[in-house]
Amino acid sequence: MKRLTVTLAATVAFAVVGFGSFSPAGADPIVIKFSHVVSPDAPKGKAALLFKQLAEKYTDGKVSVEVYPNSSLYKDKEELEALQLGSVQLLAPSISKFGPLGVKEFDVFDLPFLMSDEARARQMMASPMMADLNKKLEAKGVMPLAYWDNGAHVYTANVPLVSPDDFRGLKMRIQGSKVLDAVARQLGAIPQIIAFGELYQALQTGVVDGEDNVPSNIWTQKFYDVQKYLTVSYHGRLTYSLITNAKFWNSLPADVRPGLDRAVKESTEFFNDTAAKDNAQALKDIAATGKVQMHTLTDTEKKAWIAKLMPVHKEMEGRFGKDFIEKIYKASGFVPPQS
Ligand code: LMR
Repeated sequence: MKRLTVTLAATVAFAVVGFGSFSPAGADPIVIKFSHVVSPDAPKGKAALLFKQLAEKYTDGKVSVEVYPNSSLYKDKEELEALQLGSVQLLAPSISKFGPLGVKEFDVFDLPFLMSDEARARQMMASPMMADLNKKLEAKGVMPLAYWDNGAHVYTANVPLVSPDDFRGLKMRIQGSKVLDAVARQLGAIPQIIAFGELYQALQTGVVDGEDNVPSNIWTQKFYDVQKYLTVSYHGRLTYSLITNAKFWNSLPADVRPGLDRAVKESTEFFNDTAAKDNAQALKDIAATGKVQMHTLTDTEKKAWIAKLMPVHKEMEGRFGKDFIEKIYKASGFVPPQS
């Protein structure tokens, strides 16, 4: 009998430890699937795991979060469709991927050099204009819970990229944004949309010659193994939106929401504190591999890139309207250079 009691106690203890999300009332926990496309070691991967830990703790196990990294559940486009269908409850995609939802406005943030520094990016994301943009997503059943700033883009390629002319004829991987398409074309490159989960192979097999990304992604995805050159150009920015299915979020019980809101807030703070540090470290780690030749644009070289790419801002007036672009300049603090 004693033995049975001990075994039973051990089983219960195992169940509680093994399934920390058991609700105290014994009811099944609400499952939140959080799918993303990066490594668990990238800032988004780490923030997703922290969110899981905090959400389960702050809801006393009423919620169980399952994190699926590295496109293991869905790739770029699929994950957005899955969120709308309710097959997944949380994502944190790059906002350059919102076009296929039928919300084109987020592409504006890819205008070259618009938010290349952290202060401008943070100013933009804190601006009241974001509330209007959030409504566009909500109309598609998608609710933004937070924005995560993952830093500025650098380019990698199998040839050195120092002058804008160096892009001519290269096949460059882009995210889905129409502005990124225009940027590649303006540089004389051939843009190709490729899901992040397929990018390593595309670079390895020569489907594309190069791409742009934040250093922490280049490091954690090992793109340095399949690229020879890296240019620190800081021409664009990678912003994520932590998004959920609006219907799902709005139907959460009242005793669960405050705990989740707190977990969102604290994971956002963690993310925004971590990203810049990880990017700085990743640049050092990539350099230390000795596999990639790195170049930081000089002021003169950067001026040449800006001069080459400013026409994209003009061209995009046709897509977004001059007024909208000017409002974005104002909200982000961007001052277009005098030509
Ligand atoms: C990319 O697709 O290049 C990145 O945005 C992936 C990510 O989510 O960081």
